[in-house]
Amino acid sequence: MDLTHRPRRLRQDRVRDLVSETSLEPTDFIAPVFVDATTDERVPIESMPGHERVPIDESVARVEEVLETGVEAVMLFGIPESKDPEGTRAWVDDGVVQEATRRITAETDAYVVTDVCLCEYTDHGHCGPLEKELRGEVDHEHGPGCDHDPTLTVDNDATLEALERIAVSHADAGADMVAPSGMMDGMVAAIRGALDGEGYDHIPIMSYAAKYESAFYGPFRDAADGAPSFGNRRHYQMDPANAREALREVRLDVEEGADVLMVKPALPYLDIVSALRREFDHPVAAYNVSGEYAMLHAAAEKGWLDLEAVALESLLSIKRAGADLILTYFAEDVAEELT
Ligand code: PBG
Repeated sequence: MDLTHRPRRLRQDRVRDLVSETSLEPTDFIAPVFVDATTDERVPIESMPGHERVPIDESVARVEEVLETGVEAVMLFGIPESKDPEGTRAWVDDGVVQEATRRITAETDAYVVTDVCLCEYTDHGHCGPLEKELRGEVDHEHGPGCDHDPTLTVDNDATLEALERIAVSHADAGADMVAPSGMMDGMVAAIRGALDGEGYDHIPIMSYAAKYESAFYGPFRDAADGAPSFGNRRHYQMDPANAREALREVRLDVEEGADVLMVKPALPYLDIVSALRREFDHPVAAYNVSGEYAMLHAAAEKGWLDLEAVALESLLSIKRAGADLILTYFAEDVAEELT
């Protein structure tokens, strides 16, 4: 055959790496870490094999394990010792994330990012206080722990005030970056203003800018005990049907001062990752969420997939789609493979 083009020439072993377009580094990853104020021993998370909820006393040791793999950043999630309708344990000085952050930043070199949200702290599991609850209109005999009232929704602007307090309390504890995940309108502007007002203008905000109302968060909600006790999050998280809306959401966060733009989940939303890469100059992050992790583990457990290979391929694909950084429960395992 007289073929001019033979792309297979560049797929030979000795040249593949020279022409590869994408590569992964341990420093591309942020490893999520769950700190639990309700336990004094490590509790394995069943639906996320290899992950645990660790007590505050173990938080430094846990982060050291991450650092040993070459991953340099962690994202902290907290499970508080008690919950209430407004999530007040989210911003107290002796809260679980504040305490863990103080210890981790004092004792390690980890770059500490904190999740700024209320769903682990409210007793109803939503990402902010409920409008009706604030007005004293919730019938506590029947709710809010049930589905009987479809008009119950999160009060956006009251939540902003709480998010400001949370972000400042995390910065006070030494957090290096804050990551608001509640999908409230105006959350980035509110947090930027609050941080700047307290002298934290050097602390970047990574906004969960395009966060979808996804069924892939299931295992996380077990892990962090943050499932809504009634209804769902579709009145604040985005509709999986929408792509243009993501650009609009992200543009607002950019105008409000977001430093890093996140898409979440990752694999089912790579079109959004790649659209953000094209449209904006900011660093793009993608959150390879708990369900994406759990499903690969489950299939591997059955012997249907090679876990190491699919984990690596997943993260490579997220990067190829345009992500600069990846939040992933595979961080440690893949980092170890890479080095
Ligand atoms: C909310 C939050 C969630 C996740 C990260 N931050 C859960 C949710 O929105 O229900 C999910 C992460 C995952 O599934 O890995 N604070």
